[in-house]
Amino acid sequence: MRIVFLGPPGAGKGTQSERLANQLGIAHLSTGEMLRGAYVRRTELGLLVADYLDNGQLAPDGVVLDIVADRTLLPDCEPGCIFDGFPRTLFQAESLDRLLTSRKTPLDLVIELVIEQGALLSRLLKRGRGDDNMATIQQRMQSYDNETAPLVKYYSRRGLLRSVDARGSMEEVYASLESVVKEAQSASPPL
Ligand code: AP5
Ligand code: MG
Repeated sequence: MRIVFLGPPGAGKGTQSERLANQLGIAHLSTGEMLRGAYVRRTELGLLVADYLDNGQLAPDGVVLDIVADRTLLPDCEPGCIFDGFPRTLFQAESLDRLLTSRKTPLDLVIELVIEQGALLSRLLKRGRGDDNMATIQQRMQSYDNETAPLVKYYSRRGLLRSVDARGSMEEVYASLESVVKEAQSASPPL
């Protein structure tokens, strides 16, 4: 299965998609983690994206698309993968579609974690990651509203979108996710 996770910063994309990927035996691909890893190691890529990460702005589409195109060729993606925090712009979504269509491995499901952004500020400040400060969080939320939220309509039109209430406890949200995934699996059972 290939699944995309959409949702504002702090909605629980990482928390939930990692657990789901483990359960399904598929790879968990977080573009945020990949970029942060490069940043910490001070690789060429890391230096290129440092300012974007520090300011909570989206990294350039071309950079992110190259990373994903390479990463999805690794053998752990053969049984499927979860894209956590990717795509984040219409251009990324269209490019992903083209890539997956050319490889004959289309998306099966897009899960939107729905929660009002006001509830997320305290979660993120408590977590305290490098980019979890007030100014950066606000910029990340703005980027989500302006660039990523339109993908909800994009995937809904393709019949791939399922929305999950992300306001409950981690266990409650996971239980809702599991039922959405089971429903999608029974709609298109593996060959
Ligand atoms: P990324 O790492 O993806 O950050 P984000 O979208 O801001 O989201 P977070 O990882 O902060 O939140 P999450 O939804 O994963 O929540 P989590 O599970 O951690 O991206 C970082 C940066 O990388 C971007 O700003 C951009 O610069 C760049 N980037 C990444 N992808 C890109 C792309 N495709 N294109 C361009 N640039 C890109 O949970 C948050 C906290 O809440 C945790 O502490 C968790 O324990 C807690 N929590 C989770 N669920 C619950 C719950 N139900 N109840 C209570 N607490 C909970
Ligand atoms: Mg995350």
